[in-house]
Amino acid sequence: MPRRMEGRLPEVRAARLARASWNRAADIWEDFVERGKDFSRDYVHAPALLRALGPVRGLRVLDIGCGQGYFTRKLAARGARVVGIDWSPGMIGRAMAREGQRPIGIEYLCLDARRAGDRWSAGSFDRAVACMSLMDSPGLDRILRGVYRLLRPGGRLAFSITHPLNSSRVSRWERDEVGAHGARVLDRYFDEGAVRLVWRQARLKRLFTVPHWHYTLETYFRKICGAGFQIVHVAEPRPSAEQARLYTSLEGPSRIPFWLVIAAEKAPSKPRGRGSLRLLLGGAARSG
Ligand SMILES: C[S@@+](CC[C@H](N)C(=O)[O-])C[C@H]1O[C@@H](n2cnc3c(N)ncnc32)[C@H](O)[C@@H]1O
Repeated sequence: MPRRMEGRLPEVRAARLARASWNRAADIWEDFVERGKDFSRDYVHAPALLRALGPVRGLRVLDIGCGQGYFTRKLAARGARVVGIDWSPGMIGRAMAREGQRPIGIEYLCLDARRAGDRWSAGSFDRAVACMSLMDSPGLDRILRGVYRLLRPGGRLAFSITHPLNSSRVSRWERDEVGAHGARVLDRYFDEGAVRLVWRQARLKRLFTVPHWHYTLETYFRKICGAGFQIVHVAEPRPSAEQARLYTSLEGPSRIPFWLVIAAEKAPSKPRGRGSLRLLLGGAARSG
């Protein structure tokens, strides 16, 4: 699991660093994800995100912060017409190279998600998705407002993020005397903003650092509803007992929530002003 540096990262500096940091990490990310080293994605949060998004066959879907296209290709394989955007040329270049080698009809664009709302006309997409990317970007309000505009009435946004309980600048394991996980130490939950996140683990080609934006759960809900959406699905996906036994890195996430998956909809007819929290489903979604 990545670790947070406990100092604050000033907003302007974080916003400046974010794109270059992800661009530098593009080869590490591709190796980590595409070679099946990211167990939490394969077994836990990506299946939960697919469930939150629902069927996509024949639908036009925007994948925000698509990286080298892991989730984008999953959507295309399910029959969606997908556009993937990422602001990192390194990530998009890798995504396009894969599409070039084995074309499945995905369109990729190097684009900052904060500007996506102005890139297409209103109502251009049926669905929007963001797989573990919204907490890596500045300007969440602007992104949400843009996506709201891009979705057709009745359209749905589904995204996965690091669980806010775990994204504050103090969030680490205590170790017991044999080095196994003790309790999780969490603090500074209400200090919102950018933190420095260090990805350091044996399965990565090398260490890398990126800015990461922490908001409380309450703030996430307020921002989503403030953009006009109604929240329709909330899940805290976790590994099964068997997965936690097989993969050491999944043992911690079987005890406390590491990921949060949310789906929110644009009202089917005319927007009714500010959104609301309308929970239909949620809770104990488990990966299969
Ligand atoms: C953790 S990676 C996830 C990538 C991909 N969705 C996946 O599941 O592998 C976060 C991605 O979000 C992208 N990203 C962050 N902020 C962005 C922004 N404002 N516009 C476009 N892409 C952004 C980064 O470049 C990076 O590729």
